[in-house]
Order: sequence, then structure tokens, then C-alpha cells
Amino acid sequence: MTAVRALVTGATGGIGRAICLALVEQARRDGADIRIAAAASRPGPALDALVAELTAAGAAATGVCGDLTDPDSCAALVAQAGEFCGGLTLLVSNAGASGPGRLADLSVEQWDATFALNVRATWLLARAARPLLAGGGSVVAIASMSGLHPHPGYGAYSPAKAALTMLCRQLAQEWADMGIRVNTVCPGMIRTPLTEAVYRDESVKAQREVLVPLARIGRAEDVAAAVAYLASAGASYVTGQNLVVDGGVADHMLALIPGRPQKAAAT
Ligand SMILES: NC(=O)c1ccc[n+]([C@@H]2O[C@H](COP(=O)([O-])OP(=O)(O)OC[C@H]3O[C@@H](n4cnc5c(N)ncnc54)[C@H](OP(=O)(O)O)[C@@H]3O)[C@@H](O)[C@H]2O)c1
Repeated sequence: MTAVRALVTGATGGIGRAICLALVEQARRDGADIRIAAAASRPGPALDALVAELTAAGAAATGVCGDLTDPDSCAALVAQAGEFCGGLTLLVSNAGASGPGRLADLSVEQWDATFALNVRATWLLARAARPLLAGGGSVVAIASMSGLHPHPGYGAYSPAKAALTMLCRQLAQEWADMGIRVNTVCPGMIRTPLTEAVYRDESVKAQREVLVPLARIGRAEDVAAAVAYLASAGASYVTGQNLVVDGGVADHMLALIPGRPQKAAAT
């Protein structure tokens, strides 16, 4: 039974909310005390509702706010979270945004903003949290399958998520001697407010599902379960890893090449 002291960014988003709830549920099962600082870009009813939901579920919870593209905000969020929680055992760097755009057309400002949110914020949050996490804490960042495979139209997002994965591998090596583990979770196609507009179109949803070996679009809870595992004592020997949660879709490309043997007939 170990106390959980967590800062979760992007907490009011689809995946962030599910992560907060999964951490509270895991703590309940483990009989562990849990305190969570749920971070959003700004105050509002969504953050208030999440804090109330986490409190009702048994956590001590607070909302903290700041723009993660601002370096000073990253340090301030960690300081507020550390103060509320009485230390930190876990940083979940989940906030992110895709910002579509082709490389031929992207402005330098768009490129920099995408990297500031999806990569630099994780480095700055983790660096600020490092003294608090020392001696058994961990960091989990949310990458993307777009960081594993080029994704035309996501000219800055794909490189940013690829950089995030390497950043976390790098941190894992540099901070292992302090007892800090650092891992990423790499979602595939997940239905959240970020992607809801796409899945409201039933025909697009069906076309996407066909591409997934496990035959469904992912849920925020699928990603949250992977985060909860990496944050748990069960992953205490796991660091520098990228856990892909995509129903098999990213590895499925070669199966789509025409003229090759298809699945063996069922016996
Ligand atoms: N959904 C998918 O299919 C999918 C697939 C692969 C990877 N991912 C990754 O998973 C993570 C969560 O995505 P999601 O689907 O849950 O998206 P979401 O519902 O849009 O949530 C993203 C969260 O990021 C926060 N955020 C955005 N810009 C911010 C900023 N400048 N400062 C502080 N917070 C900021 C937002 O907070 P506010 O609402 O307070 O502004 C929002 O709650 C992201 O890193 C995303 O790239 C998602």
C-alpha cells in the first residue's frame, strides 16, 4: 500500500479524465491513499466537475491551471501540485493537440507551438518534478501512433510525438539512478472529444474499424489502463518503454497489400 501523489495534465480531456479515474480506481483496489492535481489550460465548469467526480470516487483532488506552451506555467503547475499533494509520486503528461498541416504550408509559429505543447512541456514538467519524484516516482507521457509512422497532413505532430518518445527514453536513462521511471503510452485511434467529429460519421467509423485487427475503435479507458499499469508497482522494473495501445492497427499495413496470402482459414 503506497500513497499516490499525481499530477495529470490535459485532465479534462477524454483520455485525461479516464486516466484520473483509472488511477483512483487502482488506488482503491490497492488500499492506497490518493491525491490528484488535475491540470487544465484554464478554470471552468469541466475542471470543477472533474474535481467533484474524483472527490466522490475517493481521492483528494484539486484543479490547477496553466498554458503548457508557457515554460513558466510548467514549473508553476508542478509547484502547485506538489504543495497540494504533499509531494509527487507520478506525473502524467497527457495534454497534447494535433494541429494538422502539411510541411509545405506550416508556419514556423505552428511548428513551434506543436513542439512546445507535445514535447517541450513534458521535459519542463518532468524537470520541475524531478526532485519530488526521486526515490521511486515515475513519469508517463502520452505519445501517438502518429509518432511511430509518418502521417501525411500532420507535418509537425508526427515529428513532435516521435521526439516525445525519444525524450522519455532519454529521461529514463538519465534519471534511472534517482529511481525515477519514465515511459510512454502510444494510443492508436481513440474516440474522445478530440476525435469525436470523425466518429460521428458512421461510415468513416466503419471504414476505420475495418483497419483494426481487434475490430473496434479504442476507448479512453483502454489508454488509461495502460497508464495505470505503468504507474503501478507491477511495472517497477519497466522504464524507457513505449506501450502501444492501438488494437494492432499500426502493425497491420503489410496485411493490406493485395496478392499476398490472407488470414489462414479457420479450422
Ligand atoms: N484521441 C486520439 O485518437 C489520440 C490518439 C493518439 C494520441 N492522442 C494523444 O492523447 C492525448 C490526449 O488526447 P485526447 O484525445 O484526450 O484529447 P482532448 O480530449 O482534446 O484533450 C487534450 C487536453 O489537452 C489540453 N491542452 C491542450 N492544449 C493545452 C495547453 N496549451 N495547455 C494546457 N493544456 C492543454 C486540453 O486542456 P483544456 O481543455 O483545458 O484546454 C485538453 O483537455 C494527447 O496528447 C493526444 O495527442 C490521442
